[in-house]
Amino acid sequence: MPYSRRTWLRTAALAAAPGLLRSQAPSDELRVAFVGVGNRGAYLLEHMLKIAGVRVVAVCDLDEERARRAAKMVADAGGSARTWTDFRKMLDEQKDIDAVVQAVPDWAHKDVNLAILEVGKHLYAEKPLALTVEDCKLTVSVARQAKGIMQVGFQLRHDPHRNAAMRFIHGGGLGRVLLCHGMRHGGDLPREIPWYFDKTKSGDILIDQGIHILDLFTWAIGAHPVRAMGSGGTNLFVNEPPGRTVMDNYSLIFEYPGGQRVNFSHHYFDPPGFTGIQERVFGSEGAMDLIRASWQPRGKRQTPVPLEVPDAGRDATYLSLAAFVEAVKNRRQPLNDVHSAFVATVQAILGTRAIYEKRIVTWEEVAGAA
Ligand SMILES: NC(=O)c1ccc[n+]([C@@H]2O[C@H](COP(=O)([O-])OP(=O)(O)OC[C@H]3O[C@@H](n4cnc5c(N)ncnc54)[C@H](O)[C@@H]3O)[C@@H](O)[C@H]2O)c1
Repeated sequence: MPYSRRTWLRTAALAAAPGLLRSQAPSDELRVAFVGVGNRGAYLLEHMLKIAGVRVVAVCDLDEERARRAAKMVADAGGSARTWTDFRKMLDEQKDIDAVVQAVPDWAHKDVNLAILEVGKHLYAEKPLALTVEDCKLTVSVARQAKGIMQVGFQLRHDPHRNAAMRFIHGGGLGRVLLCHGMRHGGDLPREIPWYFDKTKSGDILIDQGIHILDLFTWAIGAHPVRAMGSGGTNLFVNEPPGRTVMDNYSLIFEYPGGQRVNFSHHYFDPPGFTGIQERVFGSEGAMDLIRASWQPRGKRQTPVPLEVPDAGRDATYLSLAAFVEAVKNRRQPLNDVHSAFVATVQAILGTRAIYEKRIVTWEEVAGAA
């Protein structure tokens, strides 16, 4: 599977510019179902209900009460959605569905995604792609044959600032990309969602959370990494909540074929005042702050140069869903498609193995030769 710089740049060029969604005549309406309307699914639903040309016709959750709450959100927005607790039955019996948004726990992604793709629906699927490389490969091969378009929940690609910064980088504004540096330092995961703390269900915090930043950095560099090294563990929240098997901190370095590096650290135990997020790309001509879309050229010290940011202030999740609807209607390849999701997920699996196995692990041994 070639993930060359050219593929990345082509994908970047194909990207829907944020905010381009046309208003749709009722006959063009996209009829959407939701599978999994917990924490994330309800947020996706809230935003999907604001998109012109979309009708939410079904909501499904194993938890009947959540499905009912989601149907009420649809009703409050002036629509009407059937409720289901079995998504296979929903796909089988409700024939007016064009597209499905999936937001179930990570361990269930592969089975739910394949079932949706196999019946020919368009699919917006939450990240990660799956929890094993084998399941990621299977999902890519099913998505390639599928009638529907598949987009994956890497919504930060549509965040107006990061998107503008990435256009600048891909246009050569930073010169040659040398290194990306990121940190996500904050408090612990939400305790009310127990599966987050079980690595057999979430894949651990790099695969479930850090993956968003890896996706951005690999997109900036334009190739997948060749090897990873790292260290991590549980230093504060040992058995907290009870049964916890996920780390509360790690640090990672990835090396890329052109000699670039990604350096990323992630904490869950920072007290207030010590928390912070950084996503920085260093190039031969200067350095970019992705979150602020401002850059500092090399040479004379000056204040950072802000980029023009179309759609500044708009929500990345809204824009990602709007881009999905646009991609479906125009049969375009999404920016956050199954191929970039494959790379981000395998990269997170690679990094997790390097931490667990306490050694340098290569892309080739985890995913095979490209
Ligand atoms: N893109 C992002 O920024 C982002 C943010 C948070 C969560 N997520 C992702 O969203 C997904 C859901 O996370 P969450 O925080 O909402 O978890 P959650 O536990 O709050 O919600 C998951 C929901 O899925 C339901 N469910 C499980 N299996 C199902 C099935 N077979 N059929 C129908 N419903 C089923 C559960 O009952 C639950 O209501 C995860 O993949 C997570 O990684 C993404």
